[in-house]
Amino acid sequence: MALNPGWRTFALFPTNQSGVFLKAMRSSGLSSYSWGHYLWRGTGSFLDPEMKAFLEENTEVTSSGSLTPEIRLRLLTPRCKFWWERADLWPHGDPYWAIYWPGGQALSRYLLDNPAIVRGKSVLDLGSGCGATAIAAKMSGASRILANDIDPIAGMAITLNCELNHLTPFPILTKNILDLEQGKWDLIVLGDMFYDEDLADSLHRWLKNCFWTHRTQVLIGDPGRPQFRGHSIQHQLHKVVEYSLPEPTRQENNGLTTSIVWDFQP
Ligand SMILES: C[S@@+](CC[C@H](N)C(=O)[O-])C[C@H]1O[C@@H](n2cnc3c(N)ncnc32)[C@H](O)[C@@H]1O
Repeated sequence: MALNPGWRTFALFPTNQSGVFLKAMRSSGLSSYSWGHYLWRGTGSFLDPEMKAFLEENTEVTSSGSLTPEIRLRLLTPRCKFWWERADLWPHGDPYWAIYWPGGQALSRYLLDNPAIVRGKSVLDLGSGCGATAIAAKMSGASRILANDIDPIAGMAITLNCELNHLTPFPILTKNILDLEQGKWDLIVLGDMFYDEDLADSLHRWLKNCFWTHRTQVLIGDPGRPQFRGHSIQHQLHKVVEYSLPEPTRQENNGLTTSIVWDFQP
């Protein structure tokens, strides 16, 4: 598939680009607000109507092309205007939430196939994006879920995606949780979060603390991104399962063919 060169290239995460994206995210001033401002129990009625209309107009509801056809999501697809449009015409930050990344797909598939991993447990989905892995945890019986993403638009997208799947929305936090005191979670899941070296370092430190303080189980989904394969965290991982990616996901991700769920054991 020929992709608009200006737009979807960020899906490939060349190091120099992802650095700029993350800097832009980090300098957005989110950390100057109180926790409460960013914690909401999303229901459609809390969504800014203009933003809701924007999301509905510029995404497509789909359940095909991923590892989890049982989850419906609003995503950016070739039938959306901005798939083809020049990237600089997009009026918001980069829409990571509009893509269902291979790392998240593998994690979600694993939770749906192995509900015992989450049933009755508290689960944090860090870097939730479209919210699919948090949704999979909810569908599999997690007792408490927090979806966390520093992009406030991701928070709205997750809310819409919960509704699409007829789920009572779970809390969503759009603040950088890595700056906060560690909460106690039974399980933390991270899909495709190791795409930037600085972020990978911060996550590694933070996850080690969670593990040693609370004995939290940590599952990481990753399709073999260089920043993950080359990181020192590799020495502390145990492979849980490897999935072959569906063709549409392969095409969108520059030929990545599999995605792996790893158990972090520092
Ligand atoms: C590649 S996307 C993965 C989304 C989702 N987990 C998936 O697999 O489909 C990475 C997400 O992490 C979010 N993110 C980046 N830095 C973060 C941070 N420090 N805390 C929480 N979310 C962050 C981004 O906004 C983005 O939505």
